[in-house]
Amino acid sequence: MLFKQFTLKTHQLRNRLVMAPMTRNRATEDNTPNALMAEYYRQRADVGLIITEGTSPSPNGLGYARIPGLFNEQHVAGWRLVTDAVHARGAHIFVQLMHTGRASHVDNLPEGARVVGPVAEAMNGGIYTDTAGMQPASTPHALSEEEIAATVAEYAHSATLASEAGFDGIELHGANGYLIEQFLNPNVNTRTDAYGGSIDRRNRFALEVARATAAAIGADRVGIRLSPYGAFNHTGAFDDVKPQYEALAGELGTLRLAYLHLVDHSSMGAPTVPARFKAALRTAFAGTYIASGGFDLGAADKIVREGEADLVAFGRPALANPDFATRLKKGIPLNAPDSDTFYTAGEHGYTDYPPAMAS
Ligand SMILES: Cc1cc2nc3c(=O)[nH]c(=O)nc-3n(C[C@H](O)[C@H](O)[C@H](O)COP(=O)(O)O)c2cc1C
Repeated sequence: MLFKQFTLKTHQLRNRLVMAPMTRNRATEDNTPNALMAEYYRQRADVGLIITEGTSPSPNGLGYARIPGLFNEQHVAGWRLVTDAVHARGAHIFVQLMHTGRASHVDNLPEGARVVGPVAEAMNGGIYTDTAGMQPASTPHALSEEEIAATVAEYAHSATLASEAGFDGIELHGANGYLIEQFLNPNVNTRTDAYGGSIDRRNRFALEVARATAAAIGADRVGIRLSPYGAFNHTGAFDDVKPQYEALAGELGTLRLAYLHLVDHSSMGAPTVPARFKAALRTAFAGTYIASGGFDLGAADKIVREGEADLVAFGRPALANPDFATRLKKGIPLNAPDSDTFYTAGEHGYTDYPPAMAS
């Protein structure tokens, strides 16, 4: 079943394997994608769909060292290397738009940019910088309603540039405690204006971004990733999680987005997302559903066969195996990921994982 084709709106995916978005911090010059990154994605283009690493739609969203951006023509030219390399091998590719918001340090930002968030409260955690190592996260500037509108427009502009760069679509990073989830989560978002204080108000920013990007490039080309129950970047549990995310999934469904991509990081120590809750979100969204987090071949095959997911995203196994889909199909053992090189610059631990066969 996993190796059968799948129709994702206008895209015919060659199989149901998805490479999960993974930040790899190799955009060493001006947050611009390069030939090394193109080679990394090219190697992994035997899956049906690649979702790129988190990529900022704004100078303000480049809160980590060496992450790529997608807000100027230089970025477009860099990403074109990647999309061409992936398409030449018959895979599809969406770029994940990740605005780091308050999960950021000002030293990582280009000149003139600033750390922003729903409120002016620093995240209780550290951020790595190339200049001074680990640093406490910077205190964000609380976005005004006018600035929120400008931020939404940055996402829409970035979506347009994604099309120009040859991407098949974009994935909005609404998970893992970045800007969109900072608005969703009441432990972070304590605003009392139109963007905070109730379920609908907390969902508003996510929905505005979804509508604006769908208007820019078509809803068929916009997916979204969500992580209810996630704890990453100091978000944490809250009472209304169920009604809030059901309402959100329902509204995203009416927009007819390409897919809903759900994160369950219980395999990485996060709280489990209850199975019944996942099923309720899937029903509320009523479109293509991607499951992710801790899957191996057997579990992925089972969830697709039993109809509980349409596609399955793999993170660390795809990171460590340039010929990931081919290995799964042929039952070839997988390389183990090396976490020491997840976020370091250069090709080591990036493009030098050995292939089982010439890829
Ligand atoms: C090195 C690394 C970087 C990651 N970066 C991102 C990211 O940029 N965006 C995102 O949504 N998830 C990110 N994740 C989470 C993965 O997409 C995935 O959900 C997680 O690894 C669990 O899946 P797995 O058990 O198949 O690895 C990252 C994970 C790893 C290991």
